[in-house]
Amino acid sequence: MSATILKLGGSVITDKDRAETLDGPGLERSAAAIASAIGDGALEDGLVIVHGGGSFGHHHASEHGVTTTEGTDEIGPAMDIHGAMETLNRFVLSRLHEQDVPAIPVHPFSAAHRDGSGTLYLPTGQIETMLEEGFVPVLYGDLVANTGAGATIVSGDELVTELARALEANRIGLCSTVPGVLDDDEEVVDRITSFEDVDSILGESESTDVTGGMAGKVRTLLELDAPASIFGLESIDAFLAGEAVGTNIE
Ligand code: IPE
Repeated sequence: MSATILKLGGSVITDKDRAETLDGPGLERSAAAIASAIGDGALEDGLVIVHGGGSFGHHHASEHGVTTTEGTDEIGPAMDIHGAMETLNRFVLSRLHEQDVPAIPVHPFSAAHRDGSGTLYLPTGQIETMLEEGFVPVLYGDLVANTGAGATIVSGDELVTELARALEANRIGLCSTVPGVLDDDEEVVDRITSFEDVDSILGESESTDVTGGMAGKVRTLLELDAPASIFGLESIDAFLAGEAVGTNIE
């Protein structure tokens, strides 16, 4: 198994400033790019999509004070957060289906969990079988049951990391609203091979950002075997066609 893993950031597919509002054009543009790459035979090893929460998940999570480490054991908040994410997932699936992408949901709340130290466990036999059968599994940032903490958030980035390891992914793409990692002159850094390359740009200031933050993303992606790219929506077609776009982390 050596699939491509594509994360659609929440800010690409939702309007981050308005609660539970899609970014229709961003989502359609993403779906069209995925459909055309599949049509061109560019993704024969399979594609797994992970999408973020944007204004669906983060709004409810912050309202209820739920994070990747602070959980809830109340059903109301849990269903608010998970329900909003399921709604977003259904929108994403339906836009993909309109473009004939054989997308199948994989709900992390039902599939994954964390132990008492916060380590995430995500079985992938179902995802591997979906890929073998020609489906496109679609996961999303969600809640997961967490020993001793009720349910905590699992970010899309964490899922990407787990999937990349378990599926031995051959490429990882993080599609976001920025064209890549930017240097002090706002130019995209083409290639990062060690954190020292970007230490002075990214610094430590974002180290408290638990579900994202560019520094955290770069650190995690550097640890993975597969090459990863961070790019903007304008480069999604080129990424899916196999080209080097945005910032390449190897
Ligand atoms: C967050 O997922 C999911 C929830 C808040 C439930 P991500 O952290 O991956 O979302 P984005 O991409 O930053 O919006």
